[in-house]
Amino acid sequence: MREITADTVTDAVIDQMSTTPDARMREIMESAVRHLHAFAREVDLKPAEWIKGIEFMTQVGQKCTPDRQEFILLSDTLGLSALVNAMHDRTAIEDGTRTSLLGPFYRENAPSLPTGAQIANAIDGQEVAMWGRVVNVDGTPLANATVSVWQTSGTGLYDVQVDPTGTDYRGVFRTDEKGVYCLRSVAPIGYSIPMDGPVGKMVVSQGRHGMRPAHIHFLIGAPGYRELVTALYLKGDAHLADDVVFGSSADLVAEVKPADNECPIANLPNIRFDFSLAREGAADRRTGRVGADPAAIARAGGH
Ligand code: BEZ
Ligand code: FE
Repeated sequence: MREITADTVTDAVIDQMSTTPDARMREIMESAVRHLHAFAREVDLKPAEWIKGIEFMTQVGQKCTPDRQEFILLSDTLGLSALVNAMHDRTAIEDGTRTSLLGPFYRENAPSLPTGAQIANAIDGQEVAMWGRVVNVDGTPLANATVSVWQTSGTGLYDVQVDPTGTDYRGVFRTDEKGVYCLRSVAPIGYSIPMDGPVGKMVVSQGRHGMRPAHIHFLIGAPGYRELVTALYLKGDAHLADDVVFGSSADLVAEVKPADNECPIANLPNIRFDFSLAREGAADRRTGRVGADPAAIARAGGH
């Protein structure tokens, strides 16, 4: 019988898990155990600290509901979502528009809206048009692509933070035959991630500000192309360089420009951005999306 000591326990666990039938699951769990044990050794984890960690993870789990995903928020604030996103990007067969985080406020049931529609139920800020083209990497327009958009209201809150059943500031549009999408919205403002849970407390305890720069989320799809999960960040925001969830990037900075005749909605200040989609590679259908509607996660967990 193997004596279990601080030096032998890691191999003992890995030996016992070696019967895991799924090879990828075996690889992931073996690595997770190695790194978890290495972390405990590196910091010389004390019993009271171990319990504190367990209490924290318990609070994170208890905060999760079909409307709120505190684990995604934890992953985001620790940079894990940005890392998985960046590694996923490296598997694309072509370089399309840079991606960004899906975040915890994406909802699958956003309304389909006609071109040019206003996504806000009531205008509580500077009304703007958002428009541009969806093209492939050669610049060919993609007609009938879906362009799903969501953002906070003028108060810096998502609809579901105000009322979990409410729908506001989100919609799904289609590009026209020239690949053009166009909608009305309100210029977003920067906002704080939810601070009323354990992740917010962690962020405060680390002396971090908890802010995201002003942005609009986009999820764009067209048959035969890799789904694009991205966001546009507004030029001039004070937190472009220190986003609490590491989602902003210079490539995705967009500007509200004065009204002009080029924009299909000529009388409004507008944000123009063209999105380029990479062709779908063989692996794309298997790798999935970095993020999900919290309700889908709750369903997968049996709720
Ligand atoms: C968001 O942009 O919606 C978001 C992303 C990560 C954490 C919190 C919010
Ligand atoms: Fe957001």
